[in-house]
Amino acid sequence: MADIDAGAHRRALLERLAEENAACLVFSGSPAFRNADSEYRFRPTSDFLYLTGFTEPDTALLLVPNGEEAKSILFLRERDPKAEVWTGRRLGVERAVEALGVDDARPVDALFEDLPKLLAGHEALVYESDGGGARDRDVLDALARARSARRRGEASPSAWIEPEATLHELRLRKDEAELEAMRRAAALTTDAHRAAMRAAKPGMLEMELEARIEFECRSKGSTGPAYTTIVAGGANACILHYVENDARLEDGDLVLIDAGYEWNYHASDVTRTFPVNGRFSPEQRTLYDLVLAAQHAAIARCHVGSSFDDVHDAALDVLVDGLIEHGLLGGTREEAIESESYRRFYMHRTSHWIGLDVHDCGAYYRDGESRPLEPGMVLTVEPGLYVAEDDDTVEERWRGIGIRIEDDVHVTGGDPEVLTAAVPTDPDEIEALMA
Ligand code: GLY
Ligand code: MN
Ligand code: MN
Repeated sequence: MADIDAGAHRRALLERLAEENAACLVFSGSPAFRNADSEYRFRPTSDFLYLTGFTEPDTALLLVPNGEEAKSILFLRERDPKAEVWTGRRLGVERAVEALGVDDARPVDALFEDLPKLLAGHEALVYESDGGGARDRDVLDALARARSARRRGEASPSAWIEPEATLHELRLRKDEAELEAMRRAAALTTDAHRAAMRAAKPGMLEMELEARIEFECRSKGSTGPAYTTIVAGGANACILHYVENDARLEDGDLVLIDAGYEWNYHASDVTRTFPVNGRFSPEQRTLYDLVLAAQHAAIARCHVGSSFDDVHDAALDVLVDGLIEHGLLGGTREEAIESESYRRFYMHRTSHWIGLDVHDCGAYYRDGESRPLEPGMVLTVEPGLYVAEDDDTVEERWRGIGIRIEDDVHVTGGDPEVLTAAVPTDPDEIEALMA
């Protein structure tokens, strides 16, 4: 597998920053507490991983295209044998330049002291706000102190810019090494979905399938789940962010599994819906076929020449036509779309960008227009239908059915590449796999 080339990412960003005479400051983040003093396993921010590949907490990267001696400076924790006994090994300042290919490395404690001087000569700072928290205050304070450079006739940042137009534009278009990592994430995730399909039986707990998926992915070296796994039997599938996973799977119900694991911190995001007992009922099959047709229509739009919204619109047309045909919706397609009456059954969008983050960065609109798809972009295609248990506007036989089918699609110069195609969506193939 090609390794992620963080050095190439830094060089590309430095070029963009130079055009705007901007510096860029990115933080790794710190461990988060789950409860009391019990920490989650640390996972760096995706911006930081993209630019460094470094996985220690409490670290920052500064890029200064006008820096005289160094263009990339890593601020990291110093070696500390006593602390390392408790919280793990540290690379340390002395080894960082050679290990990571940055131009300079300094102790993280020096960051805010050094920052004003390093920012001199730059007109803007690219930095992602922490929403008015302590980090914002430290950065604003450094910018205020940097202003003294103006008295010497040097520029200092007079603006702070969110990373959307620079760093996040780069992350939106995946290079070959990133695509390879995403293919690996897709491969281990789809293996796990197939294992869960084979293992499912009436009477099992939802969390048994969750555990199965975790086992399959982590035993293949996944860095972890890209988001909290959803295993939703029956009407639980109509709760979009259901994560309790503690109900029993009932004979005759469907089960929806939305689970995606990472490879080297690159996400996958896959949903399959299948019958707990291995056979679709006629109503389940009818709605399933409709969602699958919507997904096929949407994936067919994932090419250059389409916009991001075209993908959603293609799915929506198919879903709405089917809902009308089967009597769940009245009126015409145009009326249903205009009045949004379909939203009772389809309340989410069809796609989001995916990459290092499952809901990856990148603008969806440009000048108010849905953005055209380009080679290297990767998006999910995940239409669904959800009929609430208590929806008395529809015949009883439809109630409590929730279905979503989700794949990750790479836009190429030609046909779309479905990264997660290795787990079946065809209902006959699903029944055969489960038999
Ligand atoms: N699993 C998160 C999503 O489908 O967007
Ligand atoms: Mn998704
Ligand atoms: Mn998903």
